[in-house]
Amino acid sequence: MDQFLIKGASRIAGEVTISGAKNAALPLLAAMILAKTPTTLHNVPSLQDVRTLIQLISGLGVVIKKEGNTVTCNTKTIDNFYAPYDLVKTMRASILVLGPLLARFGEAEVSLPGGCAIGSRPVDQHLKAFEAMGAEITVENGYVKAKAPKGGRLIGCQHTFDMVTVGGTENVIMAAALARGVTQLENCAREPEVVDLANMLVAMGAKISGIGTASLVIEGVEELHGCEYSVVSDRIETGSYLAGALMTRGDVLTKNTDPVLLQPVLKKFEDMGATITTGGNGKDSWIRAQMTGRPKPIDIRTQPHPGFPTDMQAQLMAVCCLADGTSTIIENIFENRYMHVPELNRLGANIMVDGHTAIIEGVEKFTAAPVMATDLRASISLVMAAAAAEGESLIDRIYHIDRGYDDVETKLRGLGVNIERINPNKR
Ligand code: UD1
Repeated sequence: MDQFLIKGASRIAGEVTISGAKNAALPLLAAMILAKTPTTLHNVPSLQDVRTLIQLISGLGVVIKKEGNTVTCNTKTIDNFYAPYDLVKTMRASILVLGPLLARFGEAEVSLPGGCAIGSRPVDQHLKAFEAMGAEITVENGYVKAKAPKGGRLIGCQHTFDMVTVGGTENVIMAAALARGVTQLENCAREPEVVDLANMLVAMGAKISGIGTASLVIEGVEELHGCEYSVVSDRIETGSYLAGALMTRGDVLTKNTDPVLLQPVLKKFEDMGATITTGGNGKDSWIRAQMTGRPKPIDIRTQPHPGFPTDMQAQLMAVCCLADGTSTIIENIFENRYMHVPELNRLGANIMVDGHTAIIEGVEKFTAAPVMATDLRASISLVMAAAAAEGESLIDRIYHIDRGYDDVETKLRGLGVNIERINPNKR
């Protein structure tokens, strides 16, 4: 298994170009299944999760290929509606093929994703909404089997999600786009990636109003056509690199990224003492974070968008570790998203966890140590902390980082991080 060897202490400074968002690319790839004619998707990041979903979609009989950052897809040859456990278990977002398959072909069989390191993460909200649209759902031998009502089409309905769920909202709007009649959804997720999906569906001929709000109205259409679309920039990748500047008195300029999508995080960076400047327009937008002294302590609670994103919690915690005082973080989205805490403590941090609350006593500096990446966002926080620490740190299980950070070593090297990928078995 690959590891990262990082030699610090580095000042994280320079320019980095941000890729398309993983969390937008995955639902957009799933949405391609809905189109009768070919679709082209640009700005698709090169990530393990993207490769997994392409493999899964290709297994349905779809002709799908990625060249550079562009994916083309033709669903004409689709001949089965089955997503096997072997692929789904490696990536929960695979469940996003359920809505499109059910809506377009009237049936689907998708493995249940099961738990993952950061929590149990059930899909009951997805299934409840499909049932409200008339689907017959059974769970047998670890698989969700879904069948549309007689006639093969889902039926529009009024439905309120019991909780805000990103994947649930995405799955259900994809299904509703091809349902018979109008679907009115309440308590929807408003994340920028949900907005990106809704915009692509509209480009495919869907009729959706309320985009970007918690109430979506989707007027089902008989069929959707292909389109050409570009994935929104990755706000979490952006925030992860900017956080490096705050930890190392650095200066990071992120390009091709939209500051509006990162407002809750940029506000916290400013509260911690960073100077944030933004500029440009549309695809040419940029964000710069400059930091001089030690970060100031802050309080954070993770919430659905437009609150502070749980996917930035680990990175901000790493900044808090070096703050001049005590910070508090409350994780409200996932029950077990503090696995990076013992690892950050191994790097010299002083963090205590009590239930959903983490109390972080700032220390002056990190110290190098061998650590283990535990999940995707935790891994980048450890990489940044290791870069800030004097000496050599070895980060194990970096396959987590490969799932979600495009070209991470090149980008980090460009920011002045001394990082090397090694494989102890190949030495
Ligand atoms: C997505 C993101 C992930 C991010 C998360 C929250 C993708 C591919 N992943 O994950 O990076 O951390 O949003 O912003 O976009 N829940 C249920 N039942 C359900 C669905 C969700 O109980 O049917 C719970 C989950 O266990 C969790 C919370 O709701 O506690 C939020 O989950 P959700 O928003 O669905 O996250 P994902 O879509 O899995």
